[in-house]
Amino acid sequence: MKVLAIYSMKGGVGKTAASVNLAYWAAASGLKTLLIDLDPQGASSFYFRVKPAKKDWGQRFFKTYENLLKQIRASDYENLDIIPAHLSFRNFDVVLHNLQKRNKRLKKVLQGMRKEYDLIVLDCPPSLGNLSEAVFTAADHLLVPVIPTTLSERTFNQLLAFFAREGYSQEKILAFFSMVQSQKNMHKGIQDTMRQAWPDFLTSSIPFSVDVENMGEYRAPVDQFAHNKPANAAYQSLWQEVHRRL
Ligand SMILES: Nc1ncnc2c1ncn2[C@@H]1O[C@H](COP(=O)(O)OP(=O)(O)O)[C@@H](O)[C@H]1O
Ligand SMILES: [Mg+2]
Repeated sequence: MKVLAIYSMKGGVGKTAASVNLAYWAAASGLKTLLIDLDPQGASSFYFRVKPAKKDWGQRFFKTYENLLKQIRASDYENLDIIPAHLSFRNFDVVLHNLQKRNKRLKKVLQGMRKEYDLIVLDCPPSLGNLSEAVFTAADHLLVPVIPTTLSERTFNQLLAFFAREGYSQEKILAFFSMVQSQKNMHKGIQDTMRQAWPDFLTSSIPFSVDVENMGEYRAPVDQFAHNKPANAAYQSLWQEVHRRL
């Protein structure tokens, strides 16, 4: 079992869009896949039409893996299950703060599901707190969407510096360009400089596309309603590249 976290401390960069489409392609390629929506906003749960639990269970999330098993819901797609977000997840940083060995807690509960799943995808909220550090510990790979703008470049460098300083392995980091507008000179220039500075950038990138925005309307992965569109091919190619690295 591998754990793939879709992470950035920035919001609105395409984490949820990537989580939904990559989990979909992972399942379609035959991997038993579980998407866990860690963001209390619940966007990936919404895209997959899965309702949150009625009970407030955020306090129990990191206790035992049985608590997580109870929250697993089937999706409309073969091989793909979802643990939907709950509003109580907004307290995860505090919940973890009060636990011992807080950085290892998430890894431990996820390990409990290794017989059930080949891949766990974590759709992360935008922050750099206790939950993020638990994610850095639990994930085999951290997939980071980067919009090719100056501020995103800065955020990405902050992440690399944080990893170096706190002793997390930078080898876990996989980055890709997200919401790319190839007609913009700045997008081109920043992609070139960042690829030079960080040669490990994935080759696949996701274009800025109305088909991705339309996921909210169709409440489905892009493949379901825009099968022949470039954005769909882009997510499929991103999945293939990530799959090879897992
Ligand atoms: N490639 C894209 N092209 C156009 N819009 C996108 C793209 N990716 C995401 N969006 C839109 O941008 C907003 C933020 O995307 P989302 O995936 O929710 O980001 P995050 O999870 O990082 O906050 C959403 O409204 C989404 O529809
Ligand atoms: Mg999101």
